Amino acid sequence: MTDAPWWQRAVGYQIWPRSFQDSNGDGIGDLPGIISRLDHLSDLGVGFVWLSPAYASPQADMGYDISDYRDIAPEYGTLDDMDRLIAEAGKRDIGIVMDLVVNHSSDKHHWFEAARNDRNAPERDYYIWADPGPDGEPPSSLRACFGGPAWNWCERAQQYYLGYFSPFQPDLNWRNPALRREIWDMMNWWFDRGIAGFRMDVISLIGKDVENEVFEEGPFLHDYLQEMHRETLRGRDVVTIGESWSVSRETAPLYCAKDRDELSMVFQFNHIKSQWHDVHGKWKPKPFDLVAFKEELFGWQTALADEGWNSLFLSNHDLPRQVSKYGDAGEYRQRSAKALATVTHLMKGTPFIYQGEEIGMTNIQLERLDQFRDLEAIGLWHEEHERGVDWETFLAGVNENGRDNTRTPVQWDASDSAGFTTGHPWIEVNANYREVNVAAERDRADGILAHYRDLVKLRRERDIVAFGRFESVADNHPQVVAYLRTLGDERLAVVVNMTGEEVTFDPPQRLRIVGEGLLATVEPREAIDGPLTLAPWESFAIHAR
Ligand code: GLC
Ligand code: CA
Repeated sequence: MTDAPWWQRAVGYQIWPRSFQDSNGDGIGDLPGIISRLDHLSDLGVGFVWLSPAYASPQADMGYDISDYRDIAPEYGTLDDMDRLIAEAGKRDIGIVMDLVVNHSSDKHHWFEAARNDRNAPERDYYIWADPGPDGEPPSSLRACFGGPAWNWCERAQQYYLGYFSPFQPDLNWRNPALRREIWDMMNWWFDRGIAGFRMDVISLIGKDVENEVFEEGPFLHDYLQEMHRETLRGRDVVTIGESWSVSRETAPLYCAKDRDELSMVFQFNHIKSQWHDVHGKWKPKPFDLVAFKEELFGWQTALADEGWNSLFLSNHDLPRQVSKYGDAGEYRQRSAKALATVTHLMKGTPFIYQGEEIGMTNIQLERLDQFRDLEAIGLWHEEHERGVDWETFLAGVNENGRDNTRTPVQWDASDSAGFTTGHPWIEVNANYREVNVAAERDRADGILAHYRDLVKLRRERDIVAFGRFESVADNHPQVVAYLRTLGDERLAVVVNMTGEEVTFDPPQRLRIVGEGLLATVEPREAIDGPLTLAPWESFAIHAR
C-alpha cells in the first residue's frame, strides 16, 4: 500500500473562494483571506484543496465563466497571491487543485471576442457556430441548462453560437486541435506553477457530437482525455477529478481505470440524483429514500472495487448543505452532521469536505428574489413563472436544493458577518452564525469539527480505511446504514442510524465484531454481539485487528 498514490489516503477540501474569507473588507472572499485561514485546514488534516475558479471572470456563473485562464479575478487577488497560496499551502503539506473549466469559456474571453468579430479569425473555430435556418431560426430548439435557448444569435457574426449552460458560457469547440493545444499549454503552465492537480468541470461534455445532439459522454470524449493525459498529466504526480452528471457505474472505469491513462477519479452524482423527483428533478422536494440512496452509494463501491477509484461526497457548491438535506438541521444538527460524515468518510475512495460542512453549516432560508445570487435559480424562476408555477412552490424547491445554500459565507465566529468580512457581504450570512461557527466548534471536544479531524486522521493512519474491501450490509433496512471493510484479517464495522428516532437493528452474523470502538457519537461501543437499539442519529465504528 505504500506505493499507492498520495491522493488515495488524502482528504480533499473544497474552497469556494467568494465566500471563504474576505481580507480587505469589500465583502468578497479572496486569496489572501484563504492564506490567512490555512491553519484551519492543516488542523483538519486535509491533503489538498480543490479551489473553485478564482480566474479572471465576469462572474455570470460565479467563476465558471472564465475570461482569462492565466489570470486571477482582481477581486480575488493576483497571480502573486496565487503563487503565495500554493507555497503557503505546500508548507503545510496541502496541495492546491485548480478547477479546469474548459467545456466553455466566458463570452468575455478574448478568444470569443475575436471569434464573434471576424469570421476569418483563427479563434472563430474555437467555438461552435451554426447558420440560421431559412426563416432565421436556430438550428434546434435545444434549451440551455440555466434557462433560455442554447443557440444564441450573434448579430456581429451573423450566426448562432452554442451556449449549453447559458449565453455567457459559449461552448468551446474541442474538435479543433488548435483549441486543444491552447488548453494543454494552459494546464502545463499551471502545473509548472506547482499545483497538485485539476478538478475538471463537466468534463464528460467535451466529446460532444453537436450535429447529432449527443452532449454527455459523446463519441470523442475518451480520445480527448487520453490526449490530455499524454500532453499534460503523464509523468506528473497529480490528482485529477472529472465532474460528470451522466457517468454510470458501467462507464466510470473508462475514465479512471488505471491502465486507461485518463483521470484519477470522477465526481458522479447518482446518489444525489436518487433523491430527485422523476419529472421535476431537484426542484421538487421529495422524502428521503435511504434504500435508494444506499443502492447508489454502495453500488458504486462495488462497481469500482477493482477498477478505478471513487470520490466520496454529499455536498459541494452546486448542492444544498448536507445536514439540511440528509440530516437534521434542528435538534440533532450535531449528531446528524457527524453521522453523515462517518457514512461518507469510512467508505473506500477519496472524501471531499465542502467549506463549512466540518462545522455543520445549514441551508439558508430565502424569501425574496432579490436575495438570490445564483444564475441557475434566477433563470429557472423566469422559466417556471412563465409556465405558471407559483412563487411559494418554486421557493420551496430553491430553499431545499438551490445552489445559494452552500454559497453563503463560512461562519468563522460570532462577530458581525460571522468573521467573514468587516464590510458588507456579497450574499447574506446565514442567520444562525452566532451558534454555528468555527470558533464555537473549536472548543467542543466532541464537536463536529473534532469528529472530522478524527475521520481524516483515521484515513491517513489506518490502511483498512483507505484500502479495505467494502461490503454492504442491510441494503434494505430503511433507517440504518451498515457496512463492513476488510483487509487481511482486519475488519472495520460501521453502523449509523439515519433517523431522529430510536431504531432497532439486528445485525447479520458477518457484522458481529469485537474490537476498538471508534467515533461513537452517543455512547462508546466495542462490540456488536446481538440486536442493537440505536439512539437517534447514533453512529459508531469498531475496528478489529
Ligand atoms: C459545473 C459547476 C457548476 C457550473 C457548471 C457550468 O457543474 O460545478 O457550478 O455552473 O458546471 O460550468
Ligand atoms: Ca475581498
